Amino acid sequence: MEPAEIARFTEVNRHAWDTIALVRGEGLHSGELFAQGEANLPANELPISDWRGLDVLHLQCASGEDTLSLALAGARVTGVDIAPENIRHARRKAKLAGLDATFVAADVYQLPPELLAGGFDVVFLSCGALGWLPDIKRWAGIVTSSLKMGGRLLVDEIHPLFICLEYDGSRYVAVEDYFRRDRPQWNAAGPPGLAGTGPDDIMPGTVEFRWPLGDIITALAWAGMRIELLDEYPNDRPELPAEQQERLRKLPGGFVLLATKDRDRT
Ligand SMILES: C[S@@+](CC[C@H](N)C(=O)[O-])C[C@H]1O[C@@H](n2cnc3c(N)ncnc32)[C@H](O)[C@@H]1O
Repeated sequence: MEPAEIARFTEVNRHAWDTIALVRGEGLHSGELFAQGEANLPANELPISDWRGLDVLHLQCASGEDTLSLALAGARVTGVDIAPENIRHARRKAKLAGLDATFVAADVYQLPPELLAGGFDVVFLSCGALGWLPDIKRWAGIVTSSLKMGGRLLVDEIHPLFICLEYDGSRYVAVEDYFRRDRPQWNAAGPPGLAGTGPDDIMPGTVEFRWPLGDIITALAWAGMRIELLDEYPNDRPELPAEQQERLRKLPGGFVLLATKDRDRT
């Protein structure tokens, strides 16, 4: 996809996420939480368990909860998000918690050159990130440009198949096209699942994309990454009725991906 078209989509989402951040405010995970040394993300349970001294680039970091969790675990963190309002929240939380963290307001597709200079040990992405990306191959190239040789990408994400399913009261049915790829899905009322975040009339629309797992892996392999781990896991939702939980356990709800940069792109 051409850069101008990518920017047309990402600008729509910047406006939406900025509005969401304004409405949400600091949300549940305030600066005080981190100041008390409590993390939002159990960093030591991830496939990279020792974060001490690692230079980490967290892409699409929202208001920095997961980024600051990695900082608490000893990483030197840089969080990037397209929504300046998110970045403002993230900086305030870091300050309140006395944590050393750099937060940058930028589009993943237009990162400042210093973040693309191969200086990072780890690029990290957490839940709800990949569906906002209009071009997965270009994204994979950005990941490898940011990493040192031997550096790792860690993604802990919602499974793309799960996003296509809905519970109809007795079973999960496919309601979306798993293979939609870069065909944009416009949501006039903002991201599904965030309805209720604020008054309907102020929620701007968003545009989303659906990347099959195979496309994500292939894009990374072509960009110079060696896949070390792909762990698909079911959702654990104890609050749901037993029958629905039983069905959930048979479906992929999320995945963890670990990959290492082992060559420069050809
Ligand atoms: C569901 S949130 C991800 C939350 C994340 N798991 C965390 O650390 O809390 C999606 C985020 O992606 C950001 N985003 C969407 N498109 C982006 C882009 N092109 N470049 C940078 N950030 C983007 C949004 O602003 C939003 O904060």
